[in-house]
Amino acid sequence: MVNLKGRDLLKMSDLTTEEVFYLLDLAAELKDKKKKGISVADRHPGKNIALIFEKTSTRTRCSFEVAAHDLGMHVTYLDPAGSQIGWKESIADTARVLAGMFEGIEYRGFEQTIVEELAYYSKVPVWNGLTNESHPTQMLADLLTIREHFGRLEGLTLCYMGDARMNTANSLMVACALVSMNCVICAPEKYQPSEVYIEKAKEIAKGTGSEIIITDSPQAGAMGADIIYTDVWVSLGEPDDVWTERIRDLTPYRVDKNVMDMAGCDAIFMHCLPSFHDLGTKKGREISEKFGLNEMEVTDEVFESPASLVFVEAENRMHTIKAVMDATL
Ligand code: CP
Repeated sequence: MVNLKGRDLLKMSDLTTEEVFYLLDLAAELKDKKKKGISVADRHPGKNIALIFEKTSTRTRCSFEVAAHDLGMHVTYLDPAGSQIGWKESIADTARVLAGMFEGIEYRGFEQTIVEELAYYSKVPVWNGLTNESHPTQMLADLLTIREHFGRLEGLTLCYMGDARMNTANSLMVACALVSMNCVICAPEKYQPSEVYIEKAKEIAKGTGSEIIITDSPQAGAMGADIIYTDVWVSLGEPDDVWTERIRDLTPYRVDKNVMDMAGCDAIFMHCLPSFHDLGTKKGREISEKFGLNEMEVTDEVFESPASLVFVEAENRMHTIKAVMDATL
């Protein structure tokens, strides 16, 4: 019997396979109730949660806020300018102050060690809303989306294309390993995940029968994949001067129609968002003027195609975060 009460969610490997499926089933139940207009506000009435965002967010912040309101809770949002963590007040002190006022704390920021320290000093559950190394709530939304589409997870192959050194690729390898999916990381050599994350995923994969494959060949990576997944080429918090190098190195890994065709007609496209797939953003237009590119990690054709599940995936952030809070509070 799974019981996650009082638990933190700091990285995917905090969870067992059984716990992942428990959260996915709970998220599916909560999603169904939401669609049918059945209130769950009696589940955590009057509780308060703190949302600390040292980096900006649309999906994660809105998901925590909407999910908290749906569960009968109140939220306090500390924005990147308003948070004094590690600057005017230590992480240990912040954790103990907030744990005296709130029943749960979400943290989005920089190093994984920050969220780990916050959790160590906090007596209430801490949820990682993204660090440089890990993005566990994104993973639960991704797995729910894949399971809704294919009706299963086991045996499917996900191919991640692009810059694989950061939170999304690190977490995808572990998430896939936990649920018996195969994960192919397709990236130039210097953009591949560090050995420590690959080894962690492979260790889990040994017990679940999945395969973790690292390649620099877009063709080998895409061939036969059920899911093609990508992320932006420059992550939150990185300086603008890295664009020239990223565009040069990662353009061969852009997800276009050719990549989707190699994967096959039943393959789906996923992206944690936000995405540079057109000129709809100020940043996208700046890059276009400077480098002559109108789309980056994914073409607009693929992003807008029927194979693209990106907006279902975004919605599922809310249902899965609701499940995490409901299960741990
Ligand atoms: N995918 C994701 O974490 O989105 P936000 O940065 O908008 O929260």
